[in-house]
Amino acid sequence: MRVLFIGDVVGSLGRNTLTEYLPKLKKAYRPQVTIANGENAAAGRGITGKIYKKFLQDGVDVITLGNHTWDNRDIFEFIGDAKKMIRPANFPEGTPGTGMVFVKVNAIELAVINMQARSFMVDIDDPFRKMDELVTIARKRTPFIFVDFHGETTSEKQAMGWYLDGRVSAVVGTHTHVQTNDARILPQGTAYLSDVGMTGPYDGILGMKREPIIEKFLTALPQRFEVIENGRSILSACLIEIDEQTGKAKSIRPIQISEDRPFTE
Ligand SMILES: [Fe+2]
Ligand SMILES: [Fe+2]
Repeated sequence: MRVLFIGDVVGSLGRNTLTEYLPKLKKAYRPQVTIANGENAAAGRGITGKIYKKFLQDGVDVITLGNHTWDNRDIFEFIGDAKKMIRPANFPEGTPGTGMVFVKVNAIELAVINMQARSFMVDIDDPFRKMDELVTIARKRTPFIFVDFHGETTSEKQAMGWYLDGRVSAVVGTHTHVQTNDARILPQGTAYLSDVGMTGPYDGILGMKREPIIEKFLTALPQRFEVIENGRSILSACLIEIDEQTGKAKSIRPIQISEDRPFTE
């Protein structure tokens, strides 16, 4: 089973890049399941019902989220009905939405889990204990389990990778918007990548206009951050191949497409 995961899609530039490249990526890599992180899809903050539908139209099977889940109020209108969208599973009890979804791939199922880290992030439920809970539930149905672990620090992400090694097929990180160069298969068969990176503006700072951010570093005065809506873009993703018998990962391949690294296949 091949799973394509696309890192944080940022604003209209990110959405257009996804629309342009997803058919090419699907043709080249033939993934059975495509997952994308959409936490920054609406002008850098959150997601709307319209964008959710467009993702599905473009060929995304599951949308994951993160700390920006609630930034666009539109989400409260559609999250209850959005069967193909998950938010971090360790948000407090009673929060709208859900953190795990099962996707049918022929005769088998892939469990997709979204979880959020805590280091330098808001205080939410323990992601490690929550993973124990969800893995137990998921494994009653399937050994194919994909985790988007949304977090700031490489240490917490590595800890989660090792904690889940052998229990899930893949743990990939999102949130930093910068792809790390550490894709590997852990000894017990879990594919791991600290951060997949972002899809959207290539010449901004994490997708946002540079000037206010530099100004903030220079002066520490409050600034309004705005997403870049045109110009060059980057697509960051990874492709994971999972053994059809065991649910263990066989390979993980990071993908980046930009003017500096053109798409070749
Ligand atoms: Fe993000
Ligand atoms: Fe984030």
